[in-house]
Amino acid sequence: MDRLFRILLGLCVMLAAAQASNVTVSTLDTTVNNSTCGTSRACFSDPVSCNPATDRSCLFVSTKSNGSSNLNFELRGESQGYIAVALSTDMNAGGNDKTYICANINSTVLFVFALLNNNTLTTQSDVSSIANVSGSINQTTIQCVFNVFGLNATSRANAATTFSIVLANGTVYANGSLSNPTVRTVTAQLDLSNVNSTNTATTTPSTNSTNASNVTTTTTTTTTTTASGANISLQHGLSQAVLILLGILAIGMM
Ligand SMILES: *[C@@H]1O[C@H](CO)[C@@H](O)[C@H](O)[C@H]1NC(C)=O
Ligand SMILES: *[C@@H]1O[C@H](CO)[C@@H](O)[C@H](O)[C@H]1NC(C)=O
Ligand SMILES: *[C@@H]1O[C@H](CO)[C@@H](O)[C@H](O)[C@H]1NC(C)=O
Ligand SMILES: *[C@@H]1O[C@H](CO)[C@@H](O)[C@H](O)[C@H]1NC(C)=O
Ligand SMILES: *[C@@H]1O[C@H](CO)[C@@H](O)[C@H](O)[C@H]1NC(C)=O
Ligand SMILES: *[C@@H]1O[C@H](CO)[C@@H](O)[C@H](O)[C@H]1NC(C)=O
Ligand SMILES: *[C@@H]1O[C@H](CO)[C@@H](O)[C@H](O)[C@H]1NC(C)=O
Ligand SMILES: *[C@@H]1O[C@H](CO)[C@@H](O)[C@H](O)[C@H]1NC(C)=O
Ligand SMILES: *[C@@H]1O[C@H](CO)[C@@H](O)[C@H](O)[C@H]1NC(C)=O
Ligand SMILES: *[C@@H]1O[C@H](CO)[C@@H](O)[C@H](O)[C@H]1NC(C)=O
Ligand SMILES: *[C@@H]1O[C@H](CO)[C@@H](O)[C@H](O)[C@H]1NC(C)=O
Ligand SMILES: *[C@@H]1O[C@H](CO)[C@@H](O)[C@H](O)[C@H]1NC(C)=O
Repeated sequence: MDRLFRILLGLCVMLAAAQASNVTVSTLDTTVNNSTCGTSRACFSDPVSCNPATDRSCLFVSTKSNGSSNLNFELRGESQGYIAVALSTDMNAGGNDKTYICANINSTVLFVFALLNNNTLTTQSDVSSIANVSGSINQTTIQCVFNVFGLNATSRANAATTFSIVLANGTVYANGSLSNPTVRTVTAQLDLSNVNSTNTATTTPSTNSTNASNVTTTTTTTTTTTASGANISLQHGLSQAVLILLGILAIGMM
């Protein structure tokens, strides 16, 4: 009985380790700006048409398609905590919107993928749709650049890359968890792969409680494993290694 319990405990610990998301964030050396808006990138911001490189009030995201349903994102803004871009298939923030979060964890970039529902973020461990994440923190200036694969707005009428852009920010608590987001703007539904798409007016943010309550609630250690300055992916690797070790020990103690 005791033996069985230890094996089960060990397996659970290892499973938790395996599920921990590990988005590797490399260092971003460039300054996200609006110079190619309308020519090679579609840009969305609050306030409208601002330049995040020069305007500290500017919360900005730009997108570029490589010709398929994959998009490259450049996100920049000022926050003590985190900035985020969510993709909505209606014009409401919420309803399982895919949300990409760029957070300042004691001056280290943490990248989190979550679903936004009823103004609540649920961290997702499956980050296979995301790649090439880089980011930087300079005091309160936060930047993340990343690729998202296989987007599908699942609307027959529109392109697979047609979404409302939701720009938001929020607080990172001392234990590394994230506050609910403060929505700064929600754009009209626009094809993010079209360089001419942009928000021409700041829409009044409306968060919507939804009927979609069957969210995959996989909690991960991403938002809690933090330490001073070190590489975040290394920390995740280490925390997973520790968990796996614990699992093996628990089984070994039979
Ligand atoms: C962690 O990253 C490595 C390398 O990109 C990948 O092979 C592995 O599947 C990832 N693990 C998880 C749990 O996402
Ligand atoms: C603006 O961004 C472009 C890429 O989008 C980059 O090539 C350029 O160096 C940036 N400009 C500044 C001033 O950082
Ligand atoms: C960049 O932002 C500045 C300041 O808001 C604006 O004047 C300029 O038109 C923008 N450039 C592009 C290409 O959007
Ligand atoms: C777009 O990028 C993805 C991922 O790098 C790649 O698999 C795909 O072939 C690219 N598509 C085009 C049209 O370049
Ligand atoms: C989020 O943005 C609002 C509006 O600009 C600002 O008042 C607030 O301080 C920001 N919150 C964080 C945590 O950055
Ligand atoms: C949304 O959140 C509010 C406040 O936490 C709660 O009262 C409400 O029941 C939630 N609605 C749904 C559909 O989960
Ligand atoms: C950080 O921001 C300050 C101004 O806020 C700027 O002078 C400095 O060059 C920035 N550092 C980097 C590495 O971009
Ligand atoms: C998006 O999903 C719909 C419905 O599931 C499907 O018919 C369509 O082929 C998908 N489009 C892309 C680009 O994957
Ligand atoms: C940031 O550092 C402070 C002081 O070292 C610590 O108390 C806090 O928990 C850290 N925050 C996170 C999210 O790790
Ligand atoms: C974007 O707008 C320009 C000028 O109106 C137009 O020439 C171009 O065809 C448009 N591009 C797309 C992809 O719609
Ligand atoms: C929330 O979404 C539902 C269904 O999409 C819609 O009928 C309702 O008007 C929305 N509520 C708000 C406050 O936007
Ligand atoms: C969640 O989904 C299951 C089956 O997929 C269903 O039986 C259940 O009623 C759903 N729960 C809610 C709250 O929608």
